[in-house]
Amino acid sequence: MTPNILAQKLESVSDSPLLEARWILSEVKDENKICSILRRRKAGEPLSKILGHKGFWKGDFITSKDVLDPRADSEILIEAVLKTFPNKLSPYSFSDIGTGSGCLLISLLTEYKNATGTGIDLSEKALKIARKNARHNNVKAKFIKKDMRQFHSSFDFAVSNQPYIPTKDIEKLEPNVRLYDPIMALDGGNDGLDYYRILSQISSVPVLFLEIGKGQKTAVCRLFKKGGWRLLSAHKDLGKIVRVLVFQKKRLVKDDKLF
Ligand SMILES: C[S@@+](CC[C@H](N)C(=O)[O-])C[C@H]1O[C@@H](n2cnc3c(N)ncnc32)[C@H](O)[C@@H]1O
Repeated sequence: MTPNILAQKLESVSDSPLLEARWILSEVKDENKICSILRRRKAGEPLSKILGHKGFWKGDFITSKDVLDPRADSEILIEAVLKTFPNKLSPYSFSDIGTGSGCLLISLLTEYKNATGTGIDLSEKALKIARKNARHNNVKAKFIKKDMRQFHSSFDFAVSNQPYIPTKDIEKLEPNVRLYDPIMALDGGNDGLDYYRILSQISSVPVLFLEIGKGQKTAVCRLFKKGGWRLLSAHKDLGKIVRVLVFQKKRLVKDDKLF
């Protein structure tokens, strides 16, 4: 099958059919397997879940029903860290809270070669995938099962892309997200802000990089102000939506200097 013919068959389900067609054909040669992929794809399953991996930042990440698929939007968070901490040789220690596939932690470790990174997640199944991904991307990382409500360890900074969809909006999500990403990675409680409430109470980390959902900036800033943080910067995605907020814990930073 040629890429163009396969792309035509994918048009009804994909925003980028030719890209997906080329991806499938670069990995699968057997026509029967291609037909089976096409059937699953037409039923709404994301191609990354079918093929079992997805590109993110400069790496390739194993994905499964147990982890949120790495999203291009989350690369804004990586860029925000690199802008805030430009010295790539520093031996930073940092954490990824709600690490899922480990895509944020591992991508940062590929940039900061002397850093140490610890990913935490409540899902043991997600941690298994994250450990595989560290090996797959030739990075040494620590992954610990922990509830972020019990996050007390000190780090130079932490990143987090925690669940932020309001519970009532979950059923309105596209089936390719609602049916194939774990609910534990999506549900942010009644107003979508439950996890920001938890993270705003952290007192062992001076700088926190957070991914947020569309329209959440004001509410999240209010919560973090209450928790003793000041907004250091806000970063928009390609759709001009504020996607990442960087907070600094006032009393943990000396002379307003970041390392
Ligand atoms: C939105 S996913 C983000 C995954 C990954 N960081 C990314 O950006 O693709 C949120 C992750 O938080 C984890 N999680 C949910 N509740 C948690 C809790 N109370 N403590 C720690 N992790 C939690 C979920 O299992 C999920 O892997």
